[in-house]
Amino acid sequence: MVRKFDAVILGAGAAGMMCAIRAGQRGRRVLLLDHAKAPGEKIRISGGGRCNFTNTGTSPANYISANAHFAKSALARYTPRDFIALVDKHGIAWHEKTLGQLFCNGSAKEIIGMLTAEMRAADVEMELQQEISSIEHTGAVFRVGTSTGPVQTPALVVATGGKSIPKMGATGLAYRIAEQFGLNLIETRPGLVPLTLDPQLLERLAPLSGVSVPAEVRHGKTAFREALLLTHRGMSGPTILQISSYWREGDDILLKIEPEHDLFQMLRSARRENGRQAPLTVLSELLPRRLAQYLLERSGVAAHVQLADCPDKVLQAVAASAQEWRVRPAGSEGYRTAEVTLGGVDTKELDSRTLAARKVPGLHFIGECVDVTGWLGGYNFQWAWASGHVCGDAL
Ligand code: FDA
Repeated sequence: MVRKFDAVILGAGAAGMMCAIRAGQRGRRVLLLDHAKAPGEKIRISGGGRCNFTNTGTSPANYISANAHFAKSALARYTPRDFIALVDKHGIAWHEKTLGQLFCNGSAKEIIGMLTAEMRAADVEMELQQEISSIEHTGAVFRVGTSTGPVQTPALVVATGGKSIPKMGATGLAYRIAEQFGLNLIETRPGLVPLTLDPQLLERLAPLSGVSVPAEVRHGKTAFREALLLTHRGMSGPTILQISSYWREGDDILLKIEPEHDLFQMLRSARRENGRQAPLTVLSELLPRRLAQYLLERSGVAAHVQLADCPDKVLQAVAASAQEWRVRPAGSEGYRTAEVTLGGVDTKELDSRTLAARKVPGLHFIGECVDVTGWLGGYNFQWAWASGHVCGDAL
């Protein structure tokens, strides 16, 4: 027997659940399918277990896409304020960390609890541990093969996310469905991911593993100022994750350690005040000592030298080793640790108001599988909520 639904949504992640809630609220009979044992697994681990569920400063400028305008419509129609109102309605306590990033005070599980409660209230049927074996399209009807038999619907929503973290159930199914229906894909790549270094540089930086400093990281015209973390694999921390979404193999990135300070001027005034100090002493007031040592080594300045013996040229070289530090990453940690997948279903194929495929009436793509990728800081969930909501509104 084929069961019939007004809408079938594949993927019980952030976008799929939000879409199911909205469609259910509008009286649609909705089936939400997922192959995982529990819904919202990425929500559960997000934001270090506290879920950075939105960013109050969300604007289309915080997203990467071949079409910079595409996200505007959905983001304007379902805003961070709308999601905060939902969180408040459920009495979930939250706080602003930095830069408009909102986190749960307690646990990310509260967000999953909120979404599942909303789904129950909207009579959404959810079936977990379901393998999607086939999708057929005849006339205006989609027939989906599942572990418990076929289901039929005039509206199929694909919300199965990207390729990031296969261990957590990422499969790339959305891209295969897009291909099946002849939709164009923008090449996918790991985003918000730590960058790796070649073995020689890694060996030199090994003593610095665990050091974290404020830094500006630049790639071409794009720059971010947040923390830089040196690790035993390479470079990480928010500023590296941010730039990783722009970086391409073979490109350099430019680091400026302690960008709020002018290290050259700092060293000069220290020399004026007390020429007997060593540059290491002065730098260590601002930077972790291990890093200061490394930067002096890089600029070829002996640790015991006195500032009085360092002409401007030498101080400039020391400052440049920290503030004009050019690095060529060897690669990235890839989908194994990437928080998001860049690229995906070409937005040209979709209606920005409904996320419906223009060529295939009734077929929709929402969330991370679409070529819209946010910066670090709650923007990706906001896209998932917004694209899910506007799609649910159109079902
Ligand atoms: P999502 O990946 O959430 O959901 C897809 C669903 O489809 C999953 O439930 C999966 O099981 C299911 N699925 C996949 N393949 C399937 C198949 N073949 N058959 C059936 N079901 C299938 N963002 C943010 O804004 N703030 C944050 O704090 C974080 N933190 C964070 C931490 C970590 C470690 C990661 C990996 C990612 C984040 N993110 C984030 C990014 C955020 O998690 C991501 O952008 C959203 O979860 C995307 O939502 P989607 O619903 O599109 O996909």
